[in-house]
Amino acid sequence: MALRTVRVQGDPVLGKRCREVREMTPRLRELVEDMFETMYTNQGVGLAAPQVGILKRIVVIDCTGEDPMVLINPVITEQSGEQTGDEGCLSLPGKVGTVTRPQKVTVEALDLDMNPVRYEGEDLLARAFCHELDHLDGHMYTELVKDGIRDVNYEEEE
Ligand code: NI
Repeated sequence: MALRTVRVQGDPVLGKRCREVREMTPRLRELVEDMFETMYTNQGVGLAAPQVGILKRIVVIDCTGEDPMVLINPVITEQSGEQTGDEGCLSLPGKVGTVTRPQKVTVEALDLDMNPVRYEGEDLLARAFCHELDHLDGHMYTELVKDGIRDVNYEEEE
């Protein structure tokens, strides 16, 4: 495993649409391993392949530290409700912004063996699904923030 460099906002790779994965390869398995290591090292709860410069539809998520998920070619098939809360991104370190997302989301994807999987997520997990899947289409959460991007410890400084 190896740490990969996280691309930061302004890098053109973060604005591109990613391609579907057609077959799993040893190279892509290594990419997924590296994405987990990079996510955990940077204390993130999700990471999308374009954030490490790879334009493929691959996402890793772990909201609890003990529930790692690999999503290949993920699609949101159902969503309901609404939640509004702060969101951050490893591609915009030290910043947060308030974003409204669905409260509950269903995602269909392929796992590391290219078998179909289906996940339901609420609260933080629903937010993570939406945030990471947006990356695959070249979108950042900052596009959805209505009241400004803040420093992470803004509240403490008030
Ligand atoms: Ni992000």
